[in-house]
Amino acid sequence: MWRNSRFVKQYQKYGKKVKIINIVGARPNFMKIAPIMHVMQSDQAIHPLLLHTGQHYDFSMSGSFFSELNIPEPDINLEVGSMNHAKQLASIMEKFDDVCEEIKPDAILVVGDVNSTMACSLVAVKRGIKVIHVEAGIRSFDRSMPEEINRLVTDSVADLLLPPSRDAIENLVNEGHDTANIEMVGNIMIDTLLSSQQKIQQSDVLNKLQLESRKYVTLTLHRPSNVDNETNLKNIVAALDYIQKKMEIVFPVHPRTRKMIATFGLESRIKEMKNLKLIDPLGYFDFSRLVADSFFVLTDSGGIQEETSVQQIPCITLRDNTERPVTISVGTNELAGSDTGRIIKLADDIFANKWKKGGIPEMWDGKTALRILHAVKTHFS
Ligand code: UD1
Repeated sequence: MWRNSRFVKQYQKYGKKVKIINIVGARPNFMKIAPIMHVMQSDQAIHPLLLHTGQHYDFSMSGSFFSELNIPEPDINLEVGSMNHAKQLASIMEKFDDVCEEIKPDAILVVGDVNSTMACSLVAVKRGIKVIHVEAGIRSFDRSMPEEINRLVTDSVADLLLPPSRDAIENLVNEGHDTANIEMVGNIMIDTLLSSQQKIQQSDVLNKLQLESRKYVTLTLHRPSNVDNETNLKNIVAALDYIQKKMEIVFPVHPRTRKMIATFGLESRIKEMKNLKLIDPLGYFDFSRLVADSFFVLTDSGGIQEETSVQQIPCITLRDNTERPVTISVGTNELAGSDTGRIIKLADDIFANKWKKGGIPEMWDGKTALRILHAVKTHFS
């Protein structure tokens, strides 16, 4: 077990609040950090600060989540914006290093696997600041994914590893991590999904988009391996053409994907599909409601594989692998890659009602933030 002497002194002897900088950067971080900030804010021993790297900056990709999920305004925003990965990482690191110099936190807490997660972890470890990683240990074993590199690097420098599932513990142990630094806490995204149920039910997104419950399919697409690769994107579009002839598809479009549709000259092909509805990215409550009432979901997102499992909505994942295998073994998920024939076959299975019902993975119960708080306090004492 690791010990931070300053933390121990402050926490145990003087009861002084311990400074933890919680890091967010991109859309999938916001619903993870919300419940963690809330439990830390009401704890006597911890002084939580919130830092936004500014990796995502549009209102629809960032700001809307703060207001909806009642996340406090960040104490610091690095305002890095978009650029290529190496430059983005370097910019976050340089700016975050100055923040660490000024604030001298006892620890930082990072979530997930985006560039901001890895960049801030590297800065902290170089300064001897403890790193807590929520969602540790998940692996796709596909090093062509930027997120897989971010996961491996973050876990290799983290002091406290908080995996969401047993397969993730196994990966960490196989990589040689000390079990004393690993504590399974469950899935933090599900805390937000469960605590938001009332607001999700109140969303009028179906009316706004003129949709009938269970009579449409929801699609999300943004992975570089799908949208930056012309062949893969065209293969997926071909499958969408087949599916939209059977049922309307609603497609909240990620900014990266919108750009690549234009780059590959696919706009007119997509416009011809009368039953494929392109819309702007949605806020959290509206999107969760859209998913909850879908006939099924097509996605290449990581988090949506988990949310559909808990919502018991069939999910076809447009990837060849997943770092979240429990969504297949226990949940409602299946992999299709960008293979037109396989996507169509799986969609037809769902249309024919031949799909597993799925169950809820262990500890995906809405109590993960409390387990994180407990793990942090125990490991630092
Ligand atoms: C990032 C994460 C990915 C996560 C995804 C969710 C990494 C390596 N990737 O991918 O894990 O699933 O966020 O969205 O960290 N853009 C805007 N407005 C914004 C943000 C981005 O227009 O608010 C555009 C930018 O022009 C940028 C592109 O979208 O070039 C991609 O953004 P970026 O943050 O680089 O990666 P994502 O694809 O969003």
